[in-house]
Amino acid sequence: MRYAFGLAALAALGASAALAEIVQPTEVSFDDGAVAVSLSGQPGDPAAGAEIMNKGAGNCIACHQVSALEHLPFHGEVGPPLDGVADRWSEAEIRGIVANAKIMFEGTVMPSFYKTEGFIRLGDAYTGDAHEGEVEPLLSAQQIEDVVAYLMTLKEE
Ligand code: HEC
Repeated sequence: MRYAFGLAALAALGASAALAEIVQPTEVSFDDGAVAVSLSGQPGDPAAGAEIMNKGAGNCIACHQVSALEHLPFHGEVGPPLDGVADRWSEAEIRGIVANAKIMFEGTVMPSFYKTEGFIRLGDAYTGDAHEGEVEPLLSAQQIEDVVAYLMTLKEE
């Protein structure tokens, strides 16, 4: 009996420790637009980050030119080229920009990729009614870390 209880308590502890590692979108702490800690509690994977640059909710190259990804079509010019971005910004600054660029660059058109509240109007496009249910960030905590890890590889020689 006692043994079984101990195991359940341990399992519960393990689960809460795993959850606590992820910084939720509403809990990100910005310091002059920069975010010092990993949002997922894990290192990012640059290869996975490179994929996000070019598809789905990320689609960074719709607005940014990246020479290292020049095999991909349609690089936009809305934002600055990201070549050498790791020389211009620290990892914490890059994480802050990717999570919520509007803190570093007030009024920017760059989307806030890790944000779930404080939108001016979040409605259902068809009914015009208020959005229902949980709002998911455009990118997950781990996807943000993957993109940050990829951007950290973009240094000018
Ligand atoms: C709708 C266009 C748009 C999209 C999509 C977009 N950005 Fe941006 N981004 C901008 C603009 C514009 C700026 C310049 C900031 C400003 O508005 O002053 C910028 C700035 C940046 C900067 C700072 C660059 C520098 O050298 O100063 C980084 C880093 C960045 N974006 C990364 C990303 C990443 C990573 C993604 C995809 C996850 C992304 N952006 C998606 C428009 C965009």
